[in-house]
Amino acid sequence: MPIYFAPLEGLTDAVYRRVHHATFAGFEKYFMPFISPSSSLSFTSRQQADIDPKENAGVPAVPQILCKDTGLFLAMAKLLRDAGYTEVNLNLGCPSGTVTAKGKGSGMLKDPDGLARFLDVIYAKSALPVSLKTRCGYDSPDEWPRLLDIMLCYPVHEWILHPRTYREFYSGAPHREFFLEAAAKAPFPVIYNGDLFRVSECREMAQFSLMLGRGAAVNPALAQETQGGEALSLESLRLFHDRLYREYLKWWPEKAVIGRMHGVMFYLLQALDCPAPFRRALKKSTTVDEYSEAVHRLFSESVLAQDIHFTPP
Ligand SMILES: Cc1cc2nc3c(=O)[nH]c(=O)nc-3n(C[C@H](O)[C@H](O)[C@H](O)COP(=O)(O)O)c2cc1C
Repeated sequence: MPIYFAPLEGLTDAVYRRVHHATFAGFEKYFMPFISPSSSLSFTSRQQADIDPKENAGVPAVPQILCKDTGLFLAMAKLLRDAGYTEVNLNLGCPSGTVTAKGKGSGMLKDPDGLARFLDVIYAKSALPVSLKTRCGYDSPDEWPRLLDIMLCYPVHEWILHPRTYREFYSGAPHREFFLEAAAKAPFPVIYNGDLFRVSECREMAQFSLMLGRGAAVNPALAQETQGGEALSLESLRLFHDRLYREYLKWWPEKAVIGRMHGVMFYLLQALDCPAPFRRALKKSTTVDEYSEAVHRLFSESVLAQDIHFTPP
């Protein structure tokens, strides 16, 4: 059962992917958070670092493009091929208001005819095999049959389906029946994504290929344990944290490191059972000295939670 690490913008950057891959097994691919290319194909230093093949050496990382312009998509695909990547993913699922307002991400699902015209071009001309990451509709689950018909017309490399509509965002139960229908009808691999937060939940879906996001951010050993490997331990969790922290400290300014580590700990804290004052001290820390002290005390005073899983805030 192949398991992929979902792209989580603001978290699973090249440093995170490298450290995760060096610490835990279980993920066959790591999808990069989206890059929204500018018309000049110039990148911020963070974007550059994220797609730089040197930064991804040894990690099976797949770049993701968020874009509604065919010319720009094709130019990006060529650039990524020349950099050595062997596949590219198109983001048709992002529900962020700033993205959908521009008709990108899940905003492209709003206009099925326009989407089909876009896919006609990119599947005819892309320099790389194209996988898709989509939701199951924009406004309503009623849009699903039309979306499925469209997808079945193309030589899709892989289709990662998060079976919620844009309107549903991350709430309510995913429409798993849509995934089952797609997996039964599509001649290409269909990968299930959505709300798999526990090992038991992943194993229930073991006959399918899976993509894990927030559950893996809480339990970085989720794929490893699901595949029969070691379960998360306090030691491996701490090792992961410490490696990540050290790597960011090597490259990033102090303030940025602390900001990023708070983002990392938003998830990892859910794997821990620890006294509230230690959590509070960590959350209040703003300098490297304060953070280092707080995180050391927190790990020393914690045990693993009984039932490790992501809980929406
Ligand atoms: C903080 C955050 C950032 C995300 N960034 C991206 C992204 O860059 N590209 C993308 O396709 N999906 C992105 N997603 C969606 C996830 O990849 C995934 O589809 C979603 O979290 C559902 O999977 P899960 O229930 O396993 O977390 C993001 C989700 C979250 C919560």
